Amino acid sequence: MTQPLSLGRLFPGAFATDASQVVSGVAFDSRKVQPGQVFVALAGAKADGARFIADAVAKGAVAVVSGQARPADLDGSVAFAQVGDPRLALSLAAAVVHPRQPGTIVAVTGTSGKSSVADFTRQIFQALGHEAASLGTIGVVTSKGADYGSLTTPDPLSLHASLDRLAGDGVTHLAMEASSHGLDQRRLDGVRLKAGAFLNLGRDHLDYHLTVADYLAAKMRLWALLPKGAPVVINRDEPYAEEAAQAATAAGHPLIGIGRKGETIRLIESVREGFSQRLTLAVEGRELVVSLPLVGDFMAGNALVAAALAMATGDEPVAALRAISGLTGVVGRLERVGEARGGLVVVDYAHKPDALSAVLSTLRGYAKGRLICVFGCGGDRDTGKRPLMGAIAAQKADIAIVTDDNPRSEDPAAIRAQVMAASPKLREIGDRAEAIRAAVRMLGTGDVLVVAGKGHETGQIIGDRTYPFSDQDVVRTAIAEIAG
Ligand SMILES: Nc1ncnc2c1ncn2[C@@H]1O[C@H](COP(=O)(O)OP(=O)(O)OP(=O)(O)O)[C@@H](O)[C@H]1O
Ligand SMILES: [Mg+2]
Repeated sequence: MTQPLSLGRLFPGAFATDASQVVSGVAFDSRKVQPGQVFVALAGAKADGARFIADAVAKGAVAVVSGQARPADLDGSVAFAQVGDPRLALSLAAAVVHPRQPGTIVAVTGTSGKSSVADFTRQIFQALGHEAASLGTIGVVTSKGADYGSLTTPDPLSLHASLDRLAGDGVTHLAMEASSHGLDQRRLDGVRLKAGAFLNLGRDHLDYHLTVADYLAAKMRLWALLPKGAPVVINRDEPYAEEAAQAATAAGHPLIGIGRKGETIRLIESVREGFSQRLTLAVEGRELVVSLPLVGDFMAGNALVAAALAMATGDEPVAALRAISGLTGVVGRLERVGEARGGLVVVDYAHKPDALSAVLSTLRGYAKGRLICVFGCGGDRDTGKRPLMGAIAAQKADIAIVTDDNPRSEDPAAIRAQVMAASPKLREIGDRAEAIRAAVRMLGTGDVLVVAGKGHETGQIIGDRTYPFSDQDVVRTAIAEIAG
């Protein structure tokens, strides 16, 4: 582990003459360069990294990796390598800088449910006696507690630093979220994966990926990252399952299909039991009944994918499936926050059309009275989803209130107007706390209120500032107000 970091070890074959030169580390942000490091210039979405080469050298970089030719004015003492894909080179180098990784790592991709599945997989691994962790939107979670605040797929250096630390802490099993963004940007290329899963594909991040075909292609990159023969889990009941399965087969991976149409773990029947469900499953020629303490068809699918990932990495199938009965919900995912006047309040992270639709359909089954929904759309993100979410809420909820959800640099009223345009049935209360309070005051016996969009988040982003905000806290306060 204490082998010196030579340019040849970090970037095999890239440096023709300076391969034996030892550096102190790797940086890709010119502002964070430390003396003696190698600087990797990435062509970013906003600024071309090559322009930061001079800055990096001024801060002490002794070598540079770039996608372009050596700048004419670069000091002759600075080693330089031109590579075809600087992001890929960075990811592989990060895995050399931080060499330790948990021995069993699985990755899950899809539009919705990645965090839930990563978390469920961690819980199942743990129940089966493994030292386990999960990594994604809700941070790094281990059996010792959560550490909030990371991106869905962090930059390669932070990611590999986390993997190294987890392995050092004795974690042997890790389930991680693989966002299409992260896959596309080669951020997972240095991770030694054992199995992967595909959940679903819906309208998401289309501002970044532009077309569904592009987006699907980015998610399918996961199959290329898996070693040949590594199993791929597919939820057979979801759109694009067939495309994902074909791509995985073409890449040499055996399939584990789950769901009502699943060939490996087949869901024969699900029966609602209060806020739980009883699943009858067929696996390896036998029938098995497990109870899942969570609601929603999609949560059943997520749980089966998680059990299948444990199976894919060597755990006994029936034991993995039985562990489903011990699952706890993930914060802000169909989370029951409280009750008022006989009505139930749920907080959910749905901030995409397909997620909102799935959540409202699920909760409809629990609403003996009215289904009330408070939701919004974020600023500086795919604007096309605004009228779609407006239409879904208007159609699927009895009362739908449009409010603000991280307007960022946009005018909140303009965002709301784009949502409101979908249906005259939508109501509008811009202030999120006020909207939640108003909805809680409407509750009556048998009603269900879902506050959608923030889930686990603890802030409202207005302009470039984040103001403390928790849907759960506001709901609890509002319930206390009408009770008191
Ligand atoms: N399998 C699923 N199908 C459809 N909707 C789902 C599914 N699983 C979860 N959801 C909905 O999507 C929301 C987000 O779930 P989750 O955080 O697990 O997804 P994610 O893929 O990690 O999202 P992100 O890309 O934002 O990290 C949930 O709150 C729920 O509303
Ligand atoms: Mg997530």
